Amino acid sequence: MQTKLTIQTRREIGTASPMIYGQFLEHFHRQVYGGVWEPGSPLSDADGFRKDVLDAMRAIHVPVIRWPGGCFVSAYHWVGGVTNPRQPYYDKAWRVEEPNDFGTDEYVALCRKIGAEPYICSNAGTGTSEETSDWVEYCNLDHEGPWAKLRRANGHEKPYGVKYWSIGNENYGAWEMGAKTETEWGRYVAETAKMMKRVDPTVELFAASIMDLSWNVNLLKEAGRYLDWISVHGYYGGTDQNNNYNGFERSMAQSLLPDRQLAHTRGILEATGYLGKLKIAFDEWNLKGWYHPNIMSGYATDPKDYILPRNGNDINSLYTMADAVFTGVFLNACLRNCDTVGMANFSPVVNTRGMIFTHKEGIVLRPSYYTFLLYTNHLQDVVVDGYLEQDAGFTALNVARDPVETFVPALDTVTTRSKDGTILAIGAANRDPENAQTLKIDLGRDESYASGTLYWIEADDKDAYNDIDRPDRVGIASRELPACTDFLSVEIPPHTVAVIELKKGDKA
Ligand code: AHR
Repeated sequence: MQTKLTIQTRREIGTASPMIYGQFLEHFHRQVYGGVWEPGSPLSDADGFRKDVLDAMRAIHVPVIRWPGGCFVSAYHWVGGVTNPRQPYYDKAWRVEEPNDFGTDEYVALCRKIGAEPYICSNAGTGTSEETSDWVEYCNLDHEGPWAKLRRANGHEKPYGVKYWSIGNENYGAWEMGAKTETEWGRYVAETAKMMKRVDPTVELFAASIMDLSWNVNLLKEAGRYLDWISVHGYYGGTDQNNNYNGFERSMAQSLLPDRQLAHTRGILEATGYLGKLKIAFDEWNLKGWYHPNIMSGYATDPKDYILPRNGNDINSLYTMADAVFTGVFLNACLRNCDTVGMANFSPVVNTRGMIFTHKEGIVLRPSYYTFLLYTNHLQDVVVDGYLEQDAGFTALNVARDPVETFVPALDTVTTRSKDGTILAIGAANRDPENAQTLKIDLGRDESYASGTLYWIEADDKDAYNDIDRPDRVGIASRELPACTDFLSVEIPPHTVAVIELKKGDKA
């Protein structure tokens, strides 16, 4: 069954920010302790960071890491993480003791080691406007006041220049510490933003948002003039209370949702007059919700009921080609909307539902990692018009909200080119669990390419996964493509993500 992609390389949608390939790191389970940071491990550097994890993050050019939460942050007081000796405290979000050994200085060191921008999410739950603006003082003032002096006393003379700051996490949700009404929220964001900007007017401010007009009308009426971003989140598998894997086909049906969410959020920005003024940060997203039963509701008393189950996130067989293909479709949606989506953060980068799994002897790269490896190394900056016509697909139950049989088109694509026009790179996700799809590409009249390569994630089954005993079952494959003019047909294997990279010849 043929599918046609008609490309207009001169019709630009926008220039995609590399921040779309961002990551998220929270103080939860083994993301920080035993994840990126494991002092004393033979695999760690002198600062305690896992060298294998750092190398894996560098290979996908992580552009930004959002930290320290997530729900964790809504009762986190940052000073405890920069005051020596560090004092542990009880983390009421996740009902464990937080040692405070990993704080702002360690986080910024992590970002510097891999060349990522820091993006700090602040405590709008139990925190205050002053505590948050003091955090900006600690990071961004040179020497003025007690907090910049404390940073210098901690051995960090130069300001960190943290550019991205979020006011709050999901304070709209009853599950969040210090949840707020929309009226309370607008006022808190406005007063906090004002103080943060007084410390450093160059910071870019985000505020927790949801796809709800009333919430955003109030937020933007009160604080829109201070903000640069609105932050939205998305988890689709409904797996926070159960650790089930919905199966490949149902996961593909859920991959239709992010596009709709982005359209909805774009509509809210339009309705409030902020389209083009604020950008969307999809700063927590993943096919799977993190597995942490009996914490968001009900108060279990036995740790075996609410702490031990979190180890269920470490079952690598749960992370299959469904995750990799969902990741490709999600990134395609962000890239196709790059005029409005400026950042997205995979949630999280290490362990839990992340793409890099750590164990005592090394790491396992889960399938989603390879989608990022392909996209960050082969897709280009300029997103152009690519019109996809297809009737291939299948029906599956979309279990995200009210279960409904949904038609899932097989292919999902995004078309990009280099600024100088010499490279064309098409991201193509094939959601079909069994069938390869032949993609007939109309390159445009007189468009010629001297060489090409097809890259794809190779997996012997739609439910294939990598694990400690078999770390390479899923990996990257490639083959040469012929020189082409006007048209090119390429077969995209089933249940995979591919990049078709075409290069013009050397300029005559
Ligand atoms: O399941 C993890 C949580 O999901 C994050 O801490 C929070 O931001 C979101 O609700």
